[in-house]
Amino acid sequence: MAVKISPSVLTADFLTLKEDIARLEHAGTDMLHLDVMDGIFVPNISFGVPVIKSIKKHSTLPLDVHLMIDRPHRYIKEFAAVADILGFHYEAGSPVAETLKEIRALGCKSCLTIKPCTEPQEIFDLLPLCDMVLVMSVEPGFGGQSFMPSALGKLEALKKEITSRGLDIDLEVDGGINTETAPLAVAAGANVLVAGSFVFSDKMEENVSFIKSL
Ligand code: DX5
Ligand code: ZN
Repeated sequence: MAVKISPSVLTADFLTLKEDIARLEHAGTDMLHLDVMDGIFVPNISFGVPVIKSIKKHSTLPLDVHLMIDRPHRYIKEFAAVADILGFHYEAGSPVAETLKEIRALGCKSCLTIKPCTEPQEIFDLLPLCDMVLVMSVEPGFGGQSFMPSALGKLEALKKEITSRGLDIDLEVDGGINTETAPLAVAAGANVLVAGSFVFSDKMEENVSFIKSL
């Protein structure tokens, strides 16, 4: 399975985002990762539906929306209307199976996300309801943090389970991805790499190509 890149716009300059998205499309980006934070589930606030709607108007890339909000089931309808892949946290206080089913019923791909404190075995039973699983390799909330090596064993365990059950699920990793950590994540089984500060840098095209070459 070819490696896909999902650049996170969290650290982008929102006033030049339109041009940056065009550059990312040209560089072969597979999708865009949009981090939604509410200041409750994580200690930071980012953006919501109106900003995603504007991005959608200016890009044909699939939108990979990462909800870091408390009890996300309250907002699934609104986000499903603008997302292609809609992910939420296992730890966020929603009925997990019902929320995954609702996301699919609304026509989006479902993504279940786990924080560094969650063991992958806890979500094994839920895998048939997931189109993608996202393993956080940093504490969610901020860009520019260091990759936690403990994510590698989680990716390996999930990859093994997905393969042995013959499931068709993308395995995404998010946080601290760079030239050193990306190859490790791919070797551990990740096939979708989120990258924020690594891509929104002065080497945007070069760094997208680096990940696409893995
Ligand atoms: C963190 C976000 C990430 C973040 C990644 O909570 O989920 O998507 O933007 O940023 P980097 O790649 O800089 O770690
Ligand atoms: Zn994210």
